[in-house]
Parts: sequence; structure tokens; C-alpha cells
Amino acid sequence: MLQESYPYFLANTPVSANRDLAVHDKYTGEVATHVALADAKAIDQAIAAAAAAAEPMRKLPAYRRQAILYHCVKRFEERSEELAEALCIEAGKPIRDARGEVTRLIDTFRIAAEETVRIGGEVVPMDINPRAEGYTGMWKRVPIGPCSFISPFNFPLNLAAHKVAPALAAGCPFVLKPASLTPIGALIIGEVLAETNLPKGAFSILPCRRDGADLFTTDDRLKLLSFTGSPDVGWALKARAGKKPVVLELGGNAACIVDEGSDIEDAVARIVFGAYYQSGQSCISVQRIIVHESHYDEVREKLTAAVKALKSGDPKDESTFIGPMISEKEAIRLHKWVHEATEAGAVVLAGGERDGAMLQATLLENVPVDTNVNCQEAFGPVAILSSFRDFDAALDEVNDSDFGLQAGIFTRDIYKIQKAWDKLEVGGVVIGDVPSWRVDHMPYGGVKDSGLGREGVRYAIEDMTELRLLVIRDPY
Ligand code: SIN
Repeated sequence: MLQESYPYFLANTPVSANRDLAVHDKYTGEVATHVALADAKAIDQAIAAAAAAAEPMRKLPAYRRQAILYHCVKRFEERSEELAEALCIEAGKPIRDARGEVTRLIDTFRIAAEETVRIGGEVVPMDINPRAEGYTGMWKRVPIGPCSFISPFNFPLNLAAHKVAPALAAGCPFVLKPASLTPIGALIIGEVLAETNLPKGAFSILPCRRDGADLFTTDDRLKLLSFTGSPDVGWALKARAGKKPVVLELGGNAACIVDEGSDIEDAVARIVFGAYYQSGQSCISVQRIIVHESHYDEVREKLTAAVKALKSGDPKDESTFIGPMISEKEAIRLHKWVHEATEAGAVVLAGGERDGAMLQATLLENVPVDTNVNCQEAFGPVAILSSFRDFDAALDEVNDSDFGLQAGIFTRDIYKIQKAWDKLEVGGVVIGDVPSWRVDHMPYGGVKDSGLGREGVRYAIEDMTELRLLVIRDPY
């Protein structure tokens, strides 16, 4: 299923330099394959090649960039089951979720192909006073140049795609560092890109150790850094990125409000999905469930029963809902947070036990606000339940967080919807559904500690291009 080993890609070319990175099956713990690790010299060569490719990439016509992206769409469709199986093994992602991610990968490349031929500009009337009479202005977008991308373990394909596909659409060469725990998805993207006639140096995909990856952040030949991952790492990288703009897609402790008058069956079904799919390892996973007091008992009962019924086990099994967390270390960390919360008075309604990297889907109530499970990013299958009486207080509770990525609200009241949209300090408000909802062309990103900038192909293309103005004087 997986190849015996995978090369890295340096300047469009596979390089089997070594087999230094063992990639484990996250469920069995066995070594599943080996990957070549890039050292600082290879990373430096890749950046030099990307810098040299900036001009040929800029000159590559839109229809050819589009054809390259459509080639990727076709090949990902042809290789979809292989891609899903790779995700299932390297990330421990239940196979149904893995197939869902492949579908989104294909969406992201298709959207990028469509956007490639829509990167336009604007005519700006200049004659605002006598001094400007006879002048016309217009601007267009030009590629920013070589980009540096660092992608996370939780969506090894699609969150790499959210950087790679817009870069190709915009005409930017790039170097990509995939997560060391899950590099295979990005390397298969590399295999497909290597089938195209992209200019030499247009892409390098370089698994490397974190301590060898400095150049991705600090090198001035790179004109943009786009990072998806944990808040601590992201903000530390920004501080060392020099003059280059930085896009940060970081984490959160997303909240979901269930207002009075909601359809409780529907809300519970969506919350179970939003809180626990792929073991809660999504930046917009439901972590805080804030329920109107009139529905609290019913939600508590139905949610507890639904969480207890989730099937956990081998992610390769079609019926598995909860697979392993990415590592035993992460499961131990979150299990400890659950334990700290219960020591502080929280009550376990469901789950709470751990076996290796498998943490049970866990639901808590009466959680003190200053505990880690409430105020830090859980990034695992743990959610907490609380109640509210007054909608404004519920909005304040959502905002009482260092983070602000997305919020979900089950309500039918248009005035409350407007108020939430105005007041919530988040990048996106989802009504009638969980904060975990995303399609790949929408603007996506956070405020506060959750990040900077927006992805969602068109918005990423904006970051990967610069406005260049042209002013024309007509002297006659
Ligand atoms: C994330 O975890 O940052 C992305 C979530 C998604 O794309 O659904």
C-alpha cells in the first residue's frame, strides 16, 4: 500500500538521499515506511532554485498554470483510494474521514485551477482634482515570489494543498516542509507535480527535522511564510521571519452555542461530529458547548448517550469513528488535562480513559474556567458542556478566550445572528451548524492567538501576490 520508501523533492526532482525518517502507522505503532530527510544544504539549494524559478513562474501564462492544476485534480482523482489509505496509516485518520480529506484536496486544487484565470485588477479613476486631470491609474496583481510553507499533521493533504495550489495559481515557486509525523500526503502531491512541466525549481517538498528547518523561516530569498500549526510555534516563527509577510493558521478552543428553540436532535448530531471527528484533531473542533438552560438536561442526556456510542478502534475499519491521536505523547497530555479538570471539580459524562494513543471520546461538565481543557486548545476528543440563560452572556463566554477562529450557533433568531456576527471575536461565524464546518473556497482564518491572514484559495492568492500600480498621464 505505502511504498517502501519515499524521496524528498528538490527543485522538482525526487531525491532518495537517505531513509532517515521512519513514518509509523499511528494505530499499530509499527514503522510503515521511510522517508528521505533534507539537511540544511538541500534546503539552501531548494531556496536558491525557487529564487531562480521566480521569473519563469511569473512568465508562465495563466492557461498553463491552470492546466497544471487540472492535471493534479485528475491524478488525485485517479489515486484517491491510495491517498486515503496513506492518510489512514500515517495520521491514524479513520478511513471515512481520510476519504473526505481527499475529496477536499481535489476541491482545493479545482478551485485554484478556476481562480488562476480570474486574478485580475482594477482601473482607478485618478482625476479627483485639477492636479490629477489627464491621469489614469490601474493595478494588477504580480506574484510575490518564492514562498515558504510549513504544513501540519492533522490534514496532511488538504492543509498542504491550501498553500501549494494557490501558489501555483498565483505563479509563485515554493518550498514546503510537511509535518515530520505525516509527510507522505505532501510527498504524493510532489509525485504528481513532478509529472508536470513546471519550471525547474518551482517546487521543493522537504521533510526535515524541526531544528534543521530554520531557513524556511529566516531566509530573505523567501518572500512569504505561510504556517499552519500550533500557536506557540507559529508566533515564535513570526518573530524570526524578518521582513517577509507571515500568514498564520493556528489553533483555537472553538465554541458552539445551542440557543433556545433549537432542534436538539439535529444540534446534538452535528456537535458529536464537530467535536469528535478525526479524534478532535482539527483547529475548529468543537471544544466548548454552551447550551441554553431550557435545553441543558436534554442536550446533556442525548449528547452523553451519543458520545458513549461512538465506535473507536482501528482507523482502517470502515465503521470506526474514533481512531488514535497522533501520538501517545499527545494523548497523555490531554488525558492529564482531563484529570486536572476532574481534580478541580469537573464531572466526566462520557469517556475519560486512555490506552496508548487512543483517548476515549470524552465529555465533561462543571469544568472550572481556568482549567486547560477550557482555556487551552485541547486538539483531541474532549469537549465540555456548560449552560447559559442570557444570549449576550453566551457571546461573552465565547469571546472569553485567547483564541478566535470560528464559532457555531444553533439559533433561528435573525437578530441574535446579527448580534453574534457583530460581537464575536472570530474569523467566521457558522449559523445552524458547528464551528468545525468548512468548505475550501471560503475565507478561513482566525483573530487573536488563532492567527493572521486568511486561507481559502482566493484569499491565499491575495497574500501570494502584490498589487502593482500603473499610472498613465495623457498630456494632450
Ligand atoms: C485546521 O485544522 O486548521 C483546518 C480545519 C479544516 O480545514 O477543516
